[in-house]
Amino acid sequence: MKEHRGRLTKDGIRIYEPADFAGMHAAGAVAARILDDVAEHVFPGQTTGEIDRIITEMVEAAGAKSATIGYKGYQHASCISVNHVVCHGIPGDKRLGDGDILNIDVTVIVDGWFGDTSRMYVAGKLPRKAERLIQVTHDALFKGIEMVKPGNTFGDIGHAIQTYVEAHRMSVVRDFCGHGLGQVFHAPPNVLHYGRPGTGAVLEEGMFFTIEPMVNLGRPETKTLADDWTAVTRDKSLSAQFEHSVGVTADGVEIFTLSPGGKFHPTYA
Ligand code: MF3
Ligand code: CO
Ligand code: CO
Repeated sequence: MKEHRGRLTKDGIRIYEPADFAGMHAAGAVAARILDDVAEHVFPGQTTGEIDRIITEMVEAAGAKSATIGYKGYQHASCISVNHVVCHGIPGDKRLGDGDILNIDVTVIVDGWFGDTSRMYVAGKLPRKAERLIQVTHDALFKGIEMVKPGNTFGDIGHAIQTYVEAHRMSVVRDFCGHGLGQVFHAPPNVLHYGRPGTGAVLEEGMFFTIEPMVNLGRPETKTLADDWTAVTRDKSLSAQFEHSVGVTADGVEIFTLSPGGKFHPTYA
């Protein structure tokens, strides 16, 4: 039975089997390749709706299914979050301006496995302040990923991210978190991007989850707009986010959503 692979820990976290990593790698690679290929479609004057239309076609061309279309009424193949939008930005008619920064978040289903990843892009010339924010957010994700190994806790991941971000005088968003995934989109645990060492559930081989820190230049508080999706910084400060789907191995971590073209880092161009 697909729905009952592996077993659950006492914290309700599913433990997948070694053979299941292949499915996650396949799904993750499709999502990551789409994020690679969409980069050339991000430029000043482009609309986020057009970017989403292109992503929808790419999902279809890959023989995959969008996990977000129809999810809780959401109607798009991506979330596109521009400037002070923290996450869940809805693609639309808004045109990108020179120096706008944006997160594009894509989740696909391949053979029943979910691949969920997001990264930052810039339209035109990257402003200096935004460059710093994007670099710190990117590196914070990897500080978290470095903590992924059996025996460490989810609090260790959150603490590593929070410590790094706050050392750079930026703030970690508390209102959204990473999540378990696998043959479902969102499952236990909530993967907090802040916390104390040694707290939370203990990581075990076979856990699959996302780490997806959102970092603000200003204060951490967010509010959700009247469309019930778009989350923005309350103080209108710039926000950035990177997301990988990962799996815990016997001695560390495998990243399922690595960029096939080495384009995950914002300065690849
Ligand atoms: N991909 C997002 C995440 O990282 C979830 C988007 S749900 C949507 O968990 F409905 F807004 F698309
Ligand atoms: Co996610
Ligand atoms: Co996502």
